[in-house]
Amino acid sequence: MKIMVIGGGGREHAIIKKIRQGKGEHEIYCLPGNAGMAGEATCIDIKAKEIDKIVEFARENGIEYAIVAQDDPLALGCVDRLNEVGVPCFGPTAKAAEIESSKVFAKNLMKKYGIPTSEYEVFDNSKKALKYVKTAKYPIVIKADGLALGKGVTIAQNEKEAVDAIVSVMETKVFGESGNKVVIEEFMEGPEVSVLSFCDGKTIVPMVSSMDHKRAYDGDNGPNTGGMGTIAPNPFYTPEVQRECEEKIIKPTVEAMRKEGRPFKGCLYFGLMVTKDGPKVVEYNCRFGDPETQVVLPLLESDLLEIMLATTNGTLDKTEVRFSNKSACCVVLASQGYPVKYEKGYSIFVPDDIKDNVYFAGVASDHGELVTNGGRVLGVTTVADDLKSAIKKSYKYAKRISFRKSFMRTDIGAKALNALENNQ
Ligand code: GLY
Repeated sequence: MKIMVIGGGGREHAIIKKIRQGKGEHEIYCLPGNAGMAGEATCIDIKAKEIDKIVEFARENGIEYAIVAQDDPLALGCVDRLNEVGVPCFGPTAKAAEIESSKVFAKNLMKKYGIPTSEYEVFDNSKKALKYVKTAKYPIVIKADGLALGKGVTIAQNEKEAVDAIVSVMETKVFGESGNKVVIEEFMEGPEVSVLSFCDGKTIVPMVSSMDHKRAYDGDNGPNTGGMGTIAPNPFYTPEVQRECEEKIIKPTVEAMRKEGRPFKGCLYFGLMVTKDGPKVVEYNCRFGDPETQVVLPLLESDLLEIMLATTNGTLDKTEVRFSNKSACCVVLASQGYPVKYEKGYSIFVPDDIKDNVYFAGVASDHGELVTNGGRVLGVTTVADDLKSAIKKSYKYAKRISFRKSFMRTDIGAKALNALENNQ
């Protein structure tokens, strides 16, 4: 099959590797992809937001299936446009993708259908938002309505921080139109769980749970990043929590989207928090998480492409989705200074015997040599019988990879392991 993947990071590399492990021979293109995928996919120099060029490429090259993995093209209607020219896709339409691309839509959906989430208010006017935060109980969470490269959420500890966030989002417009509205919501506490799920518009099949580590430095310190590492399964997603989430959150969300005339197809990501009042939704994403995908897909035993096609064709209820009982850990190697300011262009050394465990992200080719080209450079994932062994092995492998001015967190999985050990 001729397949095209839209995106260019570690998540897309993990999707491509997994498809390659399944049945059948495929011709895979990645737009734009990255230099670390060479050999596994043909990278095409078209950016994920260049929808016209993506559609043209698909038509000219007889693409039979498109996997739209990144949030921006989904929000821009890449799936709708490809469907119009007869290319079937993995991923939601723009209307369904609003579950991620509009925080206001997502919160109103949850309120309407009684899906547990934090209390909130919506503002389309900075003056009213600024007045509201004068009397708010701190900390509070301020979210830009639209996509903001993962930087649109501020946890304000006091009025000054809240005012700064509102001014920069709604008045200075640091995220452009994404800041036309804000959601101001109650701060929740508890362990976070990511649950990615395959969805065909009516049937939803959750994947193994995972835990992201969003802060840059050990002990959950430093600025928020796209994710510095992940583990799966997440020990805070106990069988009881899982049952409650499936009954009160996961199934009702799919049903709500269907009732709203926006049936969701693709990967629906539930960002959950296990609060003292039960599990609640922190956020939805309309796509695979990054770097959650890099621990979830290595545990998938069934054929990924078959499952993806079933989400498109509405046959997920007849398709096998089986995960192994093992554990996985992904450690991200980043450029020093990420997520703020960092240097690029340093040679990357990865020993041959661990190449299969590496998912490349911010890399480029310089005269045939792989060099750093982004903040999150790569992730290294291993799978083992238990979480402790997976963490140990991933760090052992990560330490064998080198490039100048690299850094990684040294405590990926520590909180999860602690939880497991305290329960035993
Ligand atoms: N790891 C969080 C995300 O993909 O949004």
